[in-house]
Amino acid sequence: MSSSTPINLATALASFDEVYSPRIVATMNDYDVRIAHTLGEHVWHAHADTDEFFLVLDGQFDIALRNDRGDEHTVVLTEGDVFVVPKGTEHKPSSPGGSILMFEPTGTSTTGEADAESIPDHVDSTVGRAL
Ligand code: NI
Repeated sequence: MSSSTPINLATALASFDEVYSPRIVATMNDYDVRIAHTLGEHVWHAHADTDEFFLVLDGQFDIALRNDRGDEHTVVLTEGDVFVVPKGTEHKPSSPGGSILMFEPTGTSTTGEADAESIPDHVDSTVGRAL
């Protein structure tokens, strides 16, 4: 999906309204750069094969993390913050409103190995959509 045309992130974000429905703005080697609007609760999930990179573009984005012993803690991210969820770590994003940029291998599902029944209607289970 490489293109000779630059993509402006603000313009790209303004081109869609759906929350938790990432759009692929660029690809690099075998990775996607995706952007998404965030609002409300996502779903507990993990990605068995990859870390997941987040950059907060606007607003606030929180990530609850759960370790092997079931202990939870939440990182609170605001504009300009970056955070990487390690491979295999259960996590559940939530947000009072905002937008994020993600960097992850092409084909990575937004909901990881979450059960289909556990995924709320406002969360798009996708490997990223075209802008
Ligand atoms: Ni994830």
